[in-house]
Amino acid sequence: MTTHRKLSPGKLVIASHNQGKVREIRALLEPFGIEPISAGDLNLPEPEETGTTFAENALLKARASAAGANCVALADDSGLCVTALDNRPGVYTADWAERQWFEGDKGRDWYMAMGKVEGKLAEQGPDVNRSGYFICTLALAWPDGHSEVFEGRVSGNLIWPPRGTLGFGYDPVFQPIGFDQTFAELDPAQKHAMSHRADAFQKLVTACF
Ligand code: IMP
Repeated sequence: MTTHRKLSPGKLVIASHNQGKVREIRALLEPFGIEPISAGDLNLPEPEETGTTFAENALLKARASAAGANCVALADDSGLCVTALDNRPGVYTADWAERQWFEGDKGRDWYMAMGKVEGKLAEQGPDVNRSGYFICTLALAWPDGHSEVFEGRVSGNLIWPPRGTLGFGYDPVFQPIGFDQTFAELDPAQKHAMSHRADAFQKLVTACF
């Protein structure tokens, strides 16, 4: 049996500058006596995501924040994998939204990104397989170099046109299995109860609390 290092109550840095992720991770941590501060609040630099897997990128971000803040750090690397697109955009999910000169959300245009996914699905004709999943890899890193990694998923279908104004990123085109609403139409508490982030977080809680 693997032994995991336990998390003690106290300070923890959320190694993300993404407000949507920080909000969701804060909500997940709330019941556990942890005092989260975000890497953005501490003005920690954002490392370049040079890894080719979700785990590599999550570890890269967690280690950078743990070293910068000298306390335990939690990073999330996540993305959307679409079956008919050979699981793309995958680790490049955020990159698909990058648009030069676009103002707001660090030059990322989520409607353009959702349109890109839809365009590539449409190229395959009306009977294309619209299934996909969100994946979330959470990495915990301690200043002494120890780390833990957990992965979660949620399956669904890509719908078009986008619906809903809640959530962030690709939420308006993702309809989880068993629901008529997209992630951007569901109450945030409902999304938190079933999301890829919640799934990974549940594994982290079982192992480290
Ligand atoms: P990264 O983990 O910073 O590389 O970014 C992953 C990207 O995946 C985010 O910027 C979002 O666009 C997308 N993503 C991850 N989780 C979610 C989610 O819960 N809803 C919608 N989009 C998400």
